[in-house]
Order: sequence, then C-alpha cells, then structure tokens
Amino acid sequence: MTDQTPSTATVLDAPPRREGRPPDPCAMVIFGAGGDLTKRLLVPALYNLARTGLLAENFALVGVDLAVTSAEQWADELRAMLQSFVGNSSSESRIDAIDDAVWRRLAGAMSVVQGDLNDSGLYDRLKDHLHTVAREHDTGGNCLFYLAVADRFFAPVATHLGHAGLLGEQDSEGTAWRRLVIEKPFGHDLASARVLNRQLRSLLHEQQIYRIDHFLGKETVQNIMAFRFANGLFEPIWNRDRIDHVQITVAEQLGVEHRGKFYEATGALRDMVPNHVFQVLAMVAMEPPGGFGAEQIRNRKADVFAQLRTLTPEDAVRGQYGPGAIAGPGGRHDVPSYRAEDNVARDSDTETFVALRLAIDNWRWAGVPFYLRTGKRMSARATEVAIRFKPAPFAPFADTDVAHLPPNWLVLNIQPDEGISLQFEVKRPGPVMDLAAVRMAFRYRDWFPREPNVGYETLIYDCMIGDQTLFQRGDMVEETWRVVQPVLEAWAAAPAPYFPNYAAGHDGPESAHHLLAEDGRAWRPVPKP
Ligand code: BG6
Repeated sequence: MTDQTPSTATVLDAPPRREGRPPDPCAMVIFGAGGDLTKRLLVPALYNLARTGLLAENFALVGVDLAVTSAEQWADELRAMLQSFVGNSSSESRIDAIDDAVWRRLAGAMSVVQGDLNDSGLYDRLKDHLHTVAREHDTGGNCLFYLAVADRFFAPVATHLGHAGLLGEQDSEGTAWRRLVIEKPFGHDLASARVLNRQLRSLLHEQQIYRIDHFLGKETVQNIMAFRFANGLFEPIWNRDRIDHVQITVAEQLGVEHRGKFYEATGALRDMVPNHVFQVLAMVAMEPPGGFGAEQIRNRKADVFAQLRTLTPEDAVRGQYGPGAIAGPGGRHDVPSYRAEDNVARDSDTETFVALRLAIDNWRWAGVPFYLRTGKRMSARATEVAIRFKPAPFAPFADTDVAHLPPNWLVLNIQPDEGISLQFEVKRPGPVMDLAAVRMAFRYRDWFPREPNVGYETLIYDCMIGDQTLFQRGDMVEETWRVVQPVLEAWAAAPAPYFPNYAAGHDGPESAHHLLAEDGRAWRPVPKP
C-alpha cells in the first residue's frame, strides 16, 4: 500500500496565525542531563523551539548529571540521538532534518555541572556556575530547574536548591524568576502526594511549581477545549440530557520494555489513570471557563476532580497480559507474558491493564458513567474519547424501533490518527426507507501540515513564559489520588491468583467487558490502524 497523504485542505475563514510571544531570557537547568527523557524528548523539543524562533536569544542550557563530564560530550551525545530521529517514522520525535545553524546555537548555549544529586557541594558549584552563565548569556538570573530524574530525587533536589538559595525570586542582586518543573509520578498514592506537596510548598510558591503531565502537551488533548468552547454547536448537547455515557480508551501495544523495575512498583492504574487519563477526562467534563487565564481553566478542571466520586473496588477491573501475538508492519509476532519480562517477578501481581467506571457528582453529569480503560500489549495503539448519545425518543420507520437504531457516537481521536468523527444514521439509497450508520470524519493531517513536534515544545515554552494553564496544581493532584486510593488499597491487599488474564494482543480481560455489560453497555472495538 502506498502512503497516500492527502494534500492539505485550506482552512476556512482563519484569522492570521497567532505568533507566540518571545519567552523570557533564562537558564534551563536539567537534572538528569544524561537520561532518556532529556535525550529523547527535552532536547529535541528545545531544538524545535529554537528552529521556530521560540527560544529566547539569551538562553543557556545547563546539564547536571554524574555521568556527563563535559559540554562537548553532552552535546555530541544529544546530537547523535537527534540524528537518529531524522526520517525515522517510528520514532516519537518527529524531526525531518537537522539545521546546523540552529544546532550550533543550541550547542553553544550548553554547559555542564557534573556531580551527585545527593551532594550539597554540587548545589554550591551550580550556584557559582549560574552566576557565570547569567553574566555570559545575559539571562537576567531567571532559572528553570527541570527535574528529569527518578521521583525519589524530587524532594531532595528541591530541598538542596532551596538550601543553596537558588529558589528565591528576590535577593540582594534584584529579582529574577525561579521555576521548578516536576515530572510524574507525583507521589505514588494520596499520602505521598500530600507529603511531596507540603515539602515543595515549604520551598516554593505554587506559582513556581510546574507539575508536568505530558498528555497535556498533545495537540488533540488541548483541542478538546477548542472543540467544546469555540463552537456553539456542541455545548448545548454536552450533558446528561443528550449523552448516555463516555468511554475513554488509552490502548498501548508496547509491553513494559526495559522498565520492568519501575512498572513492578507502579502498575497501570498509578502509571496512567490519576494523571494522563484523568487529564483527558477533565477536558471533556469541565464547565466552560470564564476566560482563558491559567487559573480560570485550572479552577474548572479542579472542580471536575473534586466532583469525581471516590472509586469503590467494584467499579474497577485489573488485568495482566500473558503471552500472545502482536500485529506489526511485518505481520503478527509472538511476545512474552508480563511475568517473563526483565526485572519482573515470575509471580507478579502488578496490573498491566485497568478498566474503571466513574461518576461525576454534578448537575451536568449526574447519571452519566465515564468508563476508562488503559493497558499495555493491547491490540493496537490508540487513544480516543468516545461520546455516546442517547437514542432518538421514537423511530417512525417501519419495522424499526429505537432499540435497533445504531447509536450516535462522537469520537475524539487523540492519537495516532488525530481527528474527530461523528457517526449518525442516513437513509440507504433505494426505494425503501432503510437506514444505515455512516461516519463524518475530520483528520488533522487533511487540514494542517505536520509540524516537527515531540510533544514537549508547548510545555517547555509555557514554563518559559510563565503560563501554568497546562500544569497540574497541587490540589488537583491530591484530588485525583483521592479518587483511586481505595482501589490501590484493595488491590494491594488482595493478590490476583487469576493473573495473567488476557493474552497479549487482546483488549483486556473478560471482566472488563462485564463491567459495561452489567450496565447494558459494551466497549467500542479499539480502532486499528
Ligand atoms: C508514560 C507512562 O507516562 O506515558 C508510560 O509512564 C506510557 O507507561 C506513556 O507508555 C504513554 O505516553 P504516550 O505519549 O506514548 O501515549
């Protein structure tokens, strides 16, 4: 089959493209400079920002790591990684070619402070170094500290930064902003999230803390707000009067890869639900904000999290994959069970799949279940939000009652085939009144050229301009853990002798189907490429 990418359609009635405002001068300090996240996502995103003119002229990039010895070594490794993405359609970083001038500029901004994150001496050296960098690169003393490290380092690094006097925004030399970016996982349950919040707030103001959830860097997740609030058409039907239920699927085809150790202690529920899947849910369920200010939007999302009913174990299903076969470009290939993966216990009880039934206790959503499922080694990679509308109240067609009319579905395809589709009934051509379900589909790639993008550009840029809209506030994180806490506890207390309970390449265990069947509903098939 040939790749028939259609030519881009002309957008209708679009005002001139808005330009992003130039970010403030700053030094970005990456802890974990030699790590995977830095190489695969952060630096490629910085490169893309530089390429599109969204990196400040006065920018410095400081790498902190024990394993990185010099700026030259670091730049060489980063460049080699970037090079490996060029033209590689299977890589997550979409880069067409490396522009040498842009790379030279980025590499010229790099410096390294080598050291052990637990050594307080490191932070004194970093402080001196940042003084030099501020002078040489004219960054005005603004610093973005990015914790691209394992979560056990979050509090210690923040505390060391605080003790070294690096988090204060005002000192004898003047004012400069200091921001801290924290990756997930933010805690591993409600109690630990509260402790981490307390530790951070003793060192920083909430406006200085940027809790990242990379799902919010996805265009299509951000687009849910545009779709709902820039169109008058959908909001009047976006409620319990017209919506029967909502299904959110985040299906992955990959297994745990080389992350067995992390995953054993984490599992699908912690890894995906209170963060990524709930972010998508909040976009779908939030009330319209009064404006597009960060707090206006975050307040409306926080309302959703606060109104999510705390789960009971009866509303949750867990699964773990056994051996099976996965479809790929060269046909199906066999893959091992989760328990046979590296660094995984042979009798592991860790779940690789979870399905949940959630309720939101407010007027808009009373009685409308939100079903979520996510898992590894499912049949395909696909993330979608599917909204099922209530049937027509009466069907005036011969031999057709309402119960037999196929439903109306509005589907927001988050990835990989980004777009929106609507399924509805039409008359099948012919002399009799015969009905058929059809689909009207918008695909991003038909309307917009693909932009080189790794998904972190917007998030990093927002940190540099001080826009917290797409970041989690402390109270939001705690509410999301509160919702899942009883399930975490119930599963920790009860082993799962029935694991593995789905074969790799299948969409979860039978019990996930029962969860919906109990309510007289069924999961949509996971979309295949
Ligand atoms: C990460 C999880 O946060 O998100 C991974 O730790 C998961 O287990 C990944 O695979 C999914 O993100 P994406 O952007 O590939 O859908």
